[in-house]
Amino acid sequence: MAISKNMGLMAMLLIAAVASASADHIDYYPYKYYAYLKGKFEVPPLKTATWGFGYVEWNMTDMKVSVDLHNAMDIWGMHIHNGTMGMNGPIVIPIAGFMQPGTSMMQYISGDFSTYIMLKTADYPWIPDFLGAGMGYFNIHSMANPGGEVRGQIYLKEMPQGM
Ligand SMILES: *[C@@H]1O[C@H](CO)[C@@H](O)[C@H](O)[C@H]1NC(C)=O
Ligand SMILES: *[C@@H]1O[C@H](CO)[C@@H](O)[C@H](O)[C@H]1NC(C)=O
Repeated sequence: MAISKNMGLMAMLLIAAVASASADHIDYYPYKYYAYLKGKFEVPPLKTATWGFGYVEWNMTDMKVSVDLHNAMDIWGMHIHNGTMGMNGPIVIPIAGFMQPGTSMMQYISGDFSTYIMLKTADYPWIPDFLGAGMGYFNIHSMANPGGEVRGQIYLKEMPQGM
């Protein structure tokens, strides 16, 4: 099982290498998953002007988890959780907890902003099966909605054009 998965990964990396050899843009991540973040996907749903996208992309060595938010109000944390659509579950990957530099004071971020973390793919051997089974969701926490302001289930997809 692990062997065939690695061989599949190798094959995809080879295809990616061949494809990028002729392109001027080098794409480091053969695996791209994304989530559309809305208040209506929270459990229970809520209304908010905040929306955005979350991305999980990886190759054999590196994994990038990123979030783009729009119209955000007092965001203090974001995580990937374990749960299918409509189910709340525990945190599996913390993405950001915003602190004022050099302190343990919470910092609240508003407006349009992006953030990302870089991880090592080898530290997350469960991620292909986890995301493949639709178990992962982004949850973005705010002052007004500490349990979650916007949420999005993570799906396999090429990134939307221009995002
Ligand atoms: C994986 O992505 C990183 C960028 O995050 C890049 O530096 C590295 O060369 C890539 N590795 C492979 C095997 O494509
Ligand atoms: C997610 O939760 C399921 C049970 O609901 C568990 O079997 C699985 O190991 C969990 N995955 C992670 C990455 O924690």
